[in-house]
Amino acid sequence: DDAECEARIVAAKEKLGSRCIVLGHHYQRNEVFKHADITGDSLKLSREAAQSDAEYIVFCGVHFMAEVADILSRPEQIAILPDMAAGCSMADMANQVKVQKCWDELARVIDVENVVTPVTYINSAADLKAFCGKHDGIVCTSSNAEKILNWSFARKEKVLFFPDQHLGRNTGYSMGIPLEQMVTWDFTQPLGGLTEQQIRDAKIILWKGYCSVHQAFKPEHIDEFKKKYPETKVISHPEACFEVCQKSDYIGSTENILKIVREAEPNTRWLVATELNLVNRLHEECQAEGKNVHFMAPTLSMCSTMFRTDSQHLAWVLENLVEGHVVNQISVPAEEAALAKKALDNMLQAS
Ligand code: 13P
Ligand code: SF4
Repeated sequence: DDAECEARIVAAKEKLGSRCIVLGHHYQRNEVFKHADITGDSLKLSREAAQSDAEYIVFCGVHFMAEVADILSRPEQIAILPDMAAGCSMADMANQVKVQKCWDELARVIDVENVVTPVTYINSAADLKAFCGKHDGIVCTSSNAEKILNWSFARKEKVLFFPDQHLGRNTGYSMGIPLEQMVTWDFTQPLGGLTEQQIRDAKIILWKGYCSVHQAFKPEHIDEFKKKYPETKVISHPEACFEVCQKSDYIGSTENILKIVREAEPNTRWLVATELNLVNRLHEECQAEGKNVHFMAPTLSMCSTMFRTDSQHLAWVLENLVEGHVVNQISVPAEEAALAKKALDNMLQAS
């Protein structure tokens, strides 16, 4: 049962001591989250992975996060994902074959190597980060996207941004890029469904990917809620759609959402467009100060892949480490890792 599992995790962590670090993303369920040595958003956890001296980095998050931990850590360090099926459906919306085809098609219209910086959201497989490393590109997260776009535009005039159209559009717009200069590439259509002129005029070419958890938040949810509680402050993750972000008082990564609400005045009401586990924990934490933190969508959608990591999986990987067995190691092939590291290092330096 849960109590037994909890005791097993605590005992295994004690035996492993500083040889093992457990990183936990903010979307993890409570029973897992409470065992994390460090919690954070994607940028903070990537930095932690890069700086850690631990032999084992157990990543309670999703697959691309453990890949980043493997790429940024030293070769002898081992990255572990407690449940190998914990992927990210948005990351899966772009892959190397489709993006390479897009790049080749763009090359028929513009001098792609000299004009376009490929920018991949960290929510992507290692081979797409390697694609960026190969083409003088960069990785971004939800907390540094503006800095990364500035870095890119200081070098070349256009950006190909994948896989999340919303993060790209919301960030570009907040930097003053008009919507018509941000076009969406639909890989199922010839030339992404765009005209040659649209491609020549575009500042950002957005991949048509999205997060199904964040896509569930709609502007009408904000309108309905505000009818009842007009004083509400709205805060959204930039993976939410343009219309939701435009109606929000704040836009931020998971770490920034926590910071803004924690630092806000007592007795305030918040409507939050991000994953349910984070919102529930924040509500519980802030209740004593009279803050009410509400989840935006009427249906309680959570990230089903983040949810896959449970205390059983965490206990299992940790107990195996105690016994000297490494299970669920995430290991990115060396050549791919070296190229992906270039794009990640560009990001860490630029942000
Ligand atoms: P953060 O980097 O803001 O934690 O976002 C990660 C993520 O997957 C959001 O859906
Ligand atoms: Fe991926 Fe969305 Fe889950 Fe974040 S919330 S890990 S983007 S599926």
